[in-house]
Amino acid sequence: MGSLLQGVNLYLVGMMGVGKTTVGRLLAKQLSYGFVDTDDVIAQAAGKSINQIFTEEGEAAFRQLESDVLSKVCAFTKLAIATGGGIVLQRENWSYLHHGLIVWLDAPVELIYSRLAEDITRPLLQDVDPQAKLRSLLEQRTSLYSQADLHISEREGDTPQDVAKRVLEAIPSVLKPQVSD
Ligand code: S3P
Repeated sequence: MGSLLQGVNLYLVGMMGVGKTTVGRLLAKQLSYGFVDTDDVIAQAAGKSINQIFTEEGEAAFRQLESDVLSKVCAFTKLAIATGGGIVLQRENWSYLHHGLIVWLDAPVELIYSRLAEDITRPLLQDVDPQAKLRSLLEQRTSLYSQADLHISEREGDTPQDVAKRVLEAIPSVLKPQVSD
């Protein structure tokens, strides 16, 4: 698989709570790739949590930081990159994402909600009905996520290992081996 990918980065996109970070780490390990989580890089660079950035600087400032980080990350190779759920919103981000293979991890709202019901680290889910918010975000973003190269649907009971395995199995369908003549 590593040779088929030839160092091409894997970008994991999809809603918060679908497991981009956990699955991304597993993929990195299996491919002998590095792992990057764009939210972690943003928080480290800003010296504050994602919640604090949203509260103190606003979502637009966060989106700008997110694009800045993505533009820098895509200069590297051999990385599995877990992105924030809203990375697909900025048109310019697609030019960076397309440097690699884009994998949409998709899960039903009910499954995402069951994982995030107690979560307090997602600013977009604070002070709202989280399930309704997740539903409307997914509705707004589905057409964007579906522009990914691969669509992996998660089911109740799937482990992160199951999902990572399914990603690896699906990669050959979009990456044809180079034929030398
Ligand atoms: C967001 C998702 C979060 C984080 C921020 C905004 C979103 O990342 O970037 O809270 O707009 O969906 P995760 O998808 O890693 O939770």
